[in-house]
Amino acid sequence: MSKGTFYITTPIYYPSDNLHIGHTYCTVAADAMARYKRMQGYDVMFLTGTDEHGQKIEEKAGEAGVSPQQFVDNIVSGILKLWKLMNISNDRFIRTTDDYHVKSIQKIFKLLYDKGDIYKSIYKGKYCTPCEAFWTDSQLVDGNCPDCGRDVYYAEEEAYFFRLSAYGDRIMELYRSQPDFLEPESRMNEMVNNFLKPGLEDLCVSRTSFKWGVPVSFDSKHVVYVWVDALSNYITALGYMNDKYDDFEKYWPADVHFVGKEITRFHSIIWPALLMALDLPLPKKVYGHGWLNIGGEKMSKSKGNVVDPVVLAGRYGVDALRYFLLREFPFGTDGDFTNEALITRINSDLANDLGNLVSRTTAMVEKYFGGTLSDLGQPEPADEELTGMAKNLRSLYERSMESYAFQSALMDIFKVVSRANKYIDETTPWILAKDESNKARLARVMYNLLETVRICAILLTPFIPDSSEIIRKKIGADLSIFNWDSAGSFGLLPKNVTVSKGENIFPRLDLNKELDELEKLQPDTGGTGTDKNQNKGKTDGIITIDEFRKTKLRIGEIKACEPVKKADRLLCMQVDFGSETRQIVSGIAKWYTPEQLIGKKIICVFNLKPAAIRGVESHGMLLAAEDGDRARVIFADDDLKPGAEIS
Ligand code: MSP
Repeated sequence: MSKGTFYITTPIYYPSDNLHIGHTYCTVAADAMARYKRMQGYDVMFLTGTDEHGQKIEEKAGEAGVSPQQFVDNIVSGILKLWKLMNISNDRFIRTTDDYHVKSIQKIFKLLYDKGDIYKSIYKGKYCTPCEAFWTDSQLVDGNCPDCGRDVYYAEEEAYFFRLSAYGDRIMELYRSQPDFLEPESRMNEMVNNFLKPGLEDLCVSRTSFKWGVPVSFDSKHVVYVWVDALSNYITALGYMNDKYDDFEKYWPADVHFVGKEITRFHSIIWPALLMALDLPLPKKVYGHGWLNIGGEKMSKSKGNVVDPVVLAGRYGVDALRYFLLREFPFGTDGDFTNEALITRINSDLANDLGNLVSRTTAMVEKYFGGTLSDLGQPEPADEELTGMAKNLRSLYERSMESYAFQSALMDIFKVVSRANKYIDETTPWILAKDESNKARLARVMYNLLETVRICAILLTPFIPDSSEIIRKKIGADLSIFNWDSAGSFGLLPKNVTVSKGENIFPRLDLNKELDELEKLQPDTGGTGTDKNQNKGKTDGIITIDEFRKTKLRIGEIKACEPVKKADRLLCMQVDFGSETRQIVSGIAKWYTPEQLIGKKIICVFNLKPAAIRGVESHGMLLAAEDGDRARVIFADDDLKPGAEIS
């Protein structure tokens, strides 16, 4: 029986270029969530699609010498192929050029006009074409678009306006009464301080200077502003104001909209205001995830630093790429993509930990029992830690998944995987196998391992669906014990199943070779953020003492520290090294306030090539440890002098 409905959406993507790994990130995260909810027994509606109107598309089509419709058709077919490749399980795909959507938008616009929420006036102000966003002078940064930093131009035209200014108080009240409406919390503070407190202005919602959009039904020289057209996809795709679908009542309001952080404003201010004006219920949550960056900068086609998911999935497999994206980066904050991180993560978690556990376990069941276990001995105290962790895993995992902490959910699983590998080393099955009198004990050890693998593989299904299915078959588990309910119990696998080792699921990769290959395959990424030569001479991450000595580590004292404007995860510090003071930028603002750092001694990489992080120069890097979702700075003893070398 269904546990209820769960409606999840991704942003609808601009088909102006092929999508890159940053877009794939959000869609893979939404897919993992949708699969998880389905596994739990929810009736899921997972929507994605394409946002096909607007000046940007019209211009690109003109440059390509084709009609806007031909232009988008071509790119949308590539997007559909990408989602198929990435094993995205969306239930519906909307294109804003779909006829039913266009007609619904016209009706929505007319309804808002009739109600007085939309009125006609003259627009005078700045417009950023790449972001399709209007800006007031006070919102510009150095005269440029505050989101993308590019040129804006002055636009003056007759236009329709939406009375956004009338909704500021209600949106404030929404945030107050529903504090988890917008997550992570930092995004809500940004909305309140940057937009709601200064006061909302009415929003220009039509354009006359280009044609590629939904015409206003009662004034056809106007086309509807692309964001009104785009945001409404979340309801038109369920049948709001059209007969194409009829499940609006069933799925609306959405349980969660996943969006990138730069479009949070549209989703957490403009979208609720439009819904309020339409007298519709509001979505339960907007989750503004972080960006995948390259060398601290957002990936984008114009910077020539995009990473192509098709190349990576083709080379390492879709599941490896899906796993990497959701394990490597905490969902709510920005993360830096590097090829080295990708290969290292695949090797350490998938090949070494999970792959090894599955292949060692299945190989031993084949070798010692011919694939089917004989009578099991009684559980022993030495088994308790592993079996206890496996039994407890589902509830830990559920807690992480419910708060969209994909990284923590995966870390929970991999703690159990590592514990199981350690259990093999502790119980030494190869020694037990030498003596027939240990057969029952050996069978028990193998059974505990198979059960642990079963539970981990079930919970990994939303992340690596194909590989989980391969593991299920290897351990001989029937589908009836490979689901959410059965992940909560230990001991369900019948002992007489047939286990088969088969091929390794995640072969180990040669780091240096892969880095070289990736560089040939994706040259325009500049080595995707890694220094091309930095890995030469390394063997799977092992370095010599001489190589280590090349890294100059020094003690520094933080003299001053402040947040970096418009980069909510960064802090900019002035660090005293005795002979000189250096500026160091670090992505730790989520975990430390400047006050907690000023006066502290830290360890810094002193001979790191200076880099600009979100436009701010950084001359070194402080050392911090990863602790679950948090970063903890490594503080040095107070007695150490600034500048002291660490050797
Ligand atoms: N069409 C609008 C969304 C309308 S939703 C009603 C749009 N499209 S987009 O194609 O430019 O971006 C779609 C999503 O991809 C955004 O959420 C954006 O944040 C995300 N990403 C684009 N580059 C990204 C990274 N480098 N990293 C993570 N996500 C990024 O905006």
